[in-house]
Amino acid sequence: MQIHSDYSLLRHNTFGIDVKCRQFVEYNDENELRKTLKMLKENTEAPWLHIGGGSNLLFTKDYPGTILHSGIYGKEIIEESDESVLLRVGAAEDWDKLVEWCVEKGLHGLENLSLIPGEAGASAVQNIGAYGVEVESLIEKVETLKVETGEARIFLHDECEYGYRTSVFKQQHKGKFIVTHVQYRLSKQFFPQISYGALKDLSEKNDMPPTAAEVRNKVIRIRREKLPDPAEIGSAGSFFMNPVISESQFQALQSQNPDIPHYPAKGGIKVPAGWLIEQCGWKGKQLGQAGVHPRQALVLINLGHATGAEIAQLSRKIQEDVAERFNITLHPEVLFL
Ligand code: EPU
Repeated sequence: MQIHSDYSLLRHNTFGIDVKCRQFVEYNDENELRKTLKMLKENTEAPWLHIGGGSNLLFTKDYPGTILHSGIYGKEIIEESDESVLLRVGAAEDWDKLVEWCVEKGLHGLENLSLIPGEAGASAVQNIGAYGVEVESLIEKVETLKVETGEARIFLHDECEYGYRTSVFKQQHKGKFIVTHVQYRLSKQFFPQISYGALKDLSEKNDMPPTAAEVRNKVIRIRREKLPDPAEIGSAGSFFMNPVISESQFQALQSQNPDIPHYPAKGGIKVPAGWLIEQCGWKGKQLGQAGVHPRQALVLINLGHATGAEIAQLSRKIQEDVAERFNITLHPEVLFL
């Protein structure tokens, strides 16, 4: 177990905000996690927070308590049939390295989720999704420890109550369980999922269906074109969730804006937040050191030395403008701390 005091979180948030936490703990297995939880329970004054790859966090100030981070690694096939495998993955495994490894080993399903920053544990909490695939469609079980008691509990897929960018771990069980491993059901045969707009030309260009590596490479190309390179520019990927509005509100909006992109969704019509933000003139703009990415308005960026407060201020201004112009409330996907 590693324990650090007054520890810089610069490497632990993809926005690249330079803040510190009072204590940082990285545990290597369930027993160390249990010990840590017991220690935190004894010290009731200081807050604590468990993080993953820090790709969905905005630190607006130093964190006054303990940050926990998983050091549980490992990939293990625990069941295998002619058609599929059940792959058990430690929560700390880097997401994109996992996708790459699966593509190399001929284990299929995760290709469309290539290059998403973050760790495996968070994939099961956040239900990461891109290019027509949500990770929940591959998740069979989520192994956790209960914070209160340290007991192990396995959640079956249906108990995770997955929705768009959400799960039971972000809703009624928020803060109550820590994910230690995720079990993914992966197929030995490749069934390309290329109905999403930007992937369609993979089928149109060739007579043969694309390989898993081709789909992965295409997704990587699209992401590199549209999204900032996390190694160079700090961001948290999509800053806001795409709002779902009522059918009647959508129709009114569409009559004013015939080109508005839209998708059917549970409870109404989903409209891209990136489009709304661009219409408000924010694409490529900046406020101090905080900016809106010039190629994807849904992504707020750190232009160098932004503080979390500056990014938060920019996000508020964008919310105000979108609310005023479209009467739509944008909800951040990013957690403010
Ligand atoms: N659009 C604009 N202007 C912009 C950005 C987008 O007009 O600046 C329009 C596009 O033209 C397109 C539509 O909005 O018609 C959708 O854009 P895009 O395909 O880029 O996807 P998105 O809805 O903006 C979501 C996810 C992304 C994911 C992509 C691809 C959310 C919050 N974001 O973005 O996820 O990569 O779809 O599937 O659902 C992330 O979560 O960090 C992330 C990048």
